[in-house]
Amino acid sequence: EAGAVATLVYNNTEGPVNGTLGETNDGYVPTGGITQADGEALAELDGTEITLELRALMEERSTYNVVAETQTGRKDNVVMAGAHLDSATEGPGINDNGTGSVALLETALAMGAEPETNNAVRFAWWGAEEFGLVGSTHYVDSLSFEQQLDIALYLNFDMIGSPNAGYFVYDGDDSDGVGAGPGPYGSAQIEQAFVDYLEGAKEVPTEGKDFDGRSDYGQFIAVGIPAGGLFTGAEVEKTEEQVAKWGGEAGASFDPCYHQACDDLGNVDRRALDRNADAMAYVTGSYALSTEDVNG
Ligand code: PHE
Ligand code: ZN
Ligand code: ZN
Ligand code: ZN
Repeated sequence: EAGAVATLVYNNTEGPVNGTLGETNDGYVPTGGITQADGEALAELDGTEITLELRALMEERSTYNVVAETQTGRKDNVVMAGAHLDSATEGPGINDNGTGSVALLETALAMGAEPETNNAVRFAWWGAEEFGLVGSTHYVDSLSFEQQLDIALYLNFDMIGSPNAGYFVYDGDDSDGVGAGPGPYGSAQIEQAFVDYLEGAKEVPTEGKDFDGRSDYGQFIAVGIPAGGLFTGAEVEKTEEQVAKWGGEAGASFDPCYHQACDDLGNVDRRALDRNADAMAYVTGSYALSTEDVNG
């Protein structure tokens, strides 16, 4: 941590450090600005307790989740939907994750103050997903066990308009039996709800997407909350078979601008975004009416 003060005993086992100081003889790797003279001085400190003030190239930032909830509906059976609002530092993050964020906002606005819902719907725009799911993990961990039990399910939307789009639905029942296992009980029903809408209403074939831990559903499933959601693909390349189903370019990434400066307004398949935004709204709205298929 920047500014931290560490006390250590310098333990020189093999004589003075020499050479380029790429690595000292106790495995300490100097990261710039340390000369050979510094190394020899360090070696002479054998057995001496020294205090280092670490001035790493780091900074501390504050980050926020934005959470909004309908005024109506059961507060003990909350439908949650979330998208991360931050981007990777390399670029503007329009597909990752402007697409999920804006569709979520549109869904919230469309629900508006009415009609009344049976279940409360809670929308979350997460901070600092790209730094290790920080916002969503903090949120879930900040809830009491009772408050976690009050969440009926969580829907995640991270990258839903990739320019070489695939139509992936989180694989709640692990139907392919490979990779990550199934989600918590009820996740299979959520998967089915998205599949039914995309394949039925939109006539778009779908594929399962493992809960591989790479997005904000992570802490929800870790505490046993049923989860699901949509994804159009990141760095992985589209196969010939997938092109036969969905069109697009074989051998190219689903998002060739993933985590790059070119993830700008041109980096969106608007048709994919439209279909997935409709699926988000439909499934969120239907769970606002009833979560019976998920929770009994
Ligand atoms: N969470 C990843 C990112 O923001 C993208 C991703 C989403 C990867 C969903 C896999 C599944 O970069
Ligand atoms: Zn990302
Ligand atoms: Zn993302
Ligand atoms: Zn499945």
